[in-house]
Amino acid sequence: METKIKPITPETLAEAKNLIFAGDVVAIPTETVYGLGGNAFDDEGVKRIFEVKGRPADNPLIAHVHSGYDLLKIIDYDPPYARKLREVFLPGPLTLVYPSTGKVSRFVSCGLNTLAVRVPAHEGAQAFLRTMDIPIVAPSANLSKHVSPTSAQHVYEDFSGKIPLILDGGSSVGGIESTVCDVTGDVPVILRPGLITKEQIAAVVGACEEYAPQLVEGEKVKSPGVLYKHYSPRCKTLLFNTAEEGLKAYRLMKETRVAVLCEDFVAGQFVKAGAVVLNLGRTEQEMAARLYGLLRDAEKICDVLIAVEPNKKDGVMTGVLNRLRKACTSVDVKH
Ligand code: TXA
Ligand code: MG
Repeated sequence: METKIKPITPETLAEAKNLIFAGDVVAIPTETVYGLGGNAFDDEGVKRIFEVKGRPADNPLIAHVHSGYDLLKIIDYDPPYARKLREVFLPGPLTLVYPSTGKVSRFVSCGLNTLAVRVPAHEGAQAFLRTMDIPIVAPSANLSKHVSPTSAQHVYEDFSGKIPLILDGGSSVGGIESTVCDVTGDVPVILRPGLITKEQIAAVVGACEEYAPQLVEGEKVKSPGVLYKHYSPRCKTLLFNTAEEGLKAYRLMKETRVAVLCEDFVAGQFVKAGAVVLNLGRTEQEMAARLYGLLRDAEKICDVLIAVEPNKKDGVMTGVLNRLRKACTSVDVKH
């Protein structure tokens, strides 16, 4: 199968609509990462997504809708505080998990009685969703466990020959996946940190909790995705807490093809030591936007990636660090 990369035009949207309604999948841009979209009402379309990605059958999908879509077609209960969150943050990088009406394919939520819903802000994504006018399930458009894609080219690297169409909407400005927030209880609970922070959510509705799975036997995990190793480049990746520890490791590793991933603030030390540096930048937004592209660069240019944790740990960095820790093997240096 030939995989075409095309800009978003009325013609390519019509082509995408034919594919989606025939049970096929189409890659689409969003402001966070690219998604692999399929018809949420169609068992075959949903199963095709799991098959193409190699996704574990117990990891549920997010339904994407345009901003004018009537959510009550697919969700059972809309608590007032969730409405407030939608007013403030949507369209945008926040996914809300609601009680489901069960109208979408039973393969979407993998046996959970909830449905994750997202209204992306990306104009191309909105145009696509308006054209479809149904919920489109879309996981990140990467092979399962590989690094998420922030450009049409990244999607092509993983799915060339496996999907018919990639709609090109430029580089994703956000860079890490949406915040996933459960709104089935009395207060919102963050299941996956992202670009909308716990502090921002709490500021709007007064409270926000974070889900930390500590499973006892027999307990069902709320958001299966949080348990998987994820986002990994295909090279050895070692994560250090400080630049000092990373530098020590770099000096011991000189013979192999090594690169260093770090924030701009400490990059100079590694450049001085002769290292190839993949620079995350300075601000939290910059680091989120660059992370996945740099992890994909790393697997092309090195055998070992030495990553150094940025200094700032809160706000958007909670999400960035969550992804970085899942991508890399942490090295705890005993002092
Ligand atoms: O930014 C994003 O959210 C991107 C773009 C394409 O929209 N999508 C994305 O999808 O990251 P995916 O499939 O890679 O991650 C979905 C996450 C997983 O961690 C999954 O477990 C969780 O959302 N999830 C989906 N449905 C859920 C549900 N009903 N309850 C709890 N967690 C759910
Ligand atoms: Mg993903």
